[in-house]
Amino acid sequence: MAIRIDGKKISADIKDELKAQVAQLKEQGRDICLAVIQVGDDPASTVYVRNKKTACAYIGIESRAFALPEETTEEELLALIDQLNKDDHVHGILVQLPIPDHMDEQKVIRAISPKKDVDGFHPQSVGALSIGEPGFVSCTPAGIIQLLKRTGIEIEGQECVVVGRSNIVGKPMAMLLLRENGTVTVCHSRTRNLEEVCRRADILVTAIGKPKFFDDTYVKEGAVVIDVGIHRDENNKLCGDVDYDKVVDKVRAITPVPGGVGPMTIAMLMNNCVEAALRMDS
Ligand code: GUN
Repeated sequence: MAIRIDGKKISADIKDELKAQVAQLKEQGRDICLAVIQVGDDPASTVYVRNKKTACAYIGIESRAFALPEETTEEELLALIDQLNKDDHVHGILVQLPIPDHMDEQKVIRAISPKKDVDGFHPQSVGALSIGEPGFVSCTPAGIIQLLKRTGIEIEGQECVVVGRSNIVGKPMAMLLLRENGTVTVCHSRTRNLEEVCRRADILVTAIGKPKFFDDTYVKEGAVVIDVGIHRDENNKLCGDVDYDKVVDKVRAITPVPGGVGPMTIAMLMNNCVEAALRMDS
């Protein structure tokens, strides 16, 4: 029987650990504050931002929300970020993506102080990860490492195949698995013989953005499968990049969708906020 990796439970455990840590810090008079900026009213972003605020409230982190209109100029957004960078009361700054097309996303990301870059998207954070220095790590891949560790799955020496090379998931995922001494292969849209490469994996991480793309032909017997995708299937039911039912009997462990990787992103964001506060005060 495959282990169903319970991201909901592991995320709840991490949030409870952080809640206890934040309560201790509060007793020492140290408060933590996250600034969340949303530009425009993309409905999915509104849900994500609301969930982040709820998680902050649960853990005891103050959240300051900035809901800016779609027509906000890049200069106005950069001015707000600059003000928050200089505000000692604010430990983390997050600009919810995507931002409107009239803004340069990379310029906005670079404007956030690396000390407050709790998303781990700043080039300095990305660089620090790649050379093994301390810095903030993108939340979804960091959450996947926690899923593996807390399920007792060894990474060292294992064949790890990551499908997808985005800046937010694929690339930092590869770096993190490498840091844990995994043997890492990164696949993408131009990869030849994708099935064959995936079948080598002891740990397969799928972030390809195609519903139920991976069936049992992509998976080695006894592999661990981590599904980053989230989609609606033909019956409007949530599903991942992996065809769960076709794969589940062949694997050692697998993350469900929903309830696998998804809940981990916010838990790791909260972790980064606490870390930001600890680093800033030390
Ligand atoms: N949009 C979708 N996911 C994310 C995320 O993790 N952080 C930010 N800032 N925007 C997102």
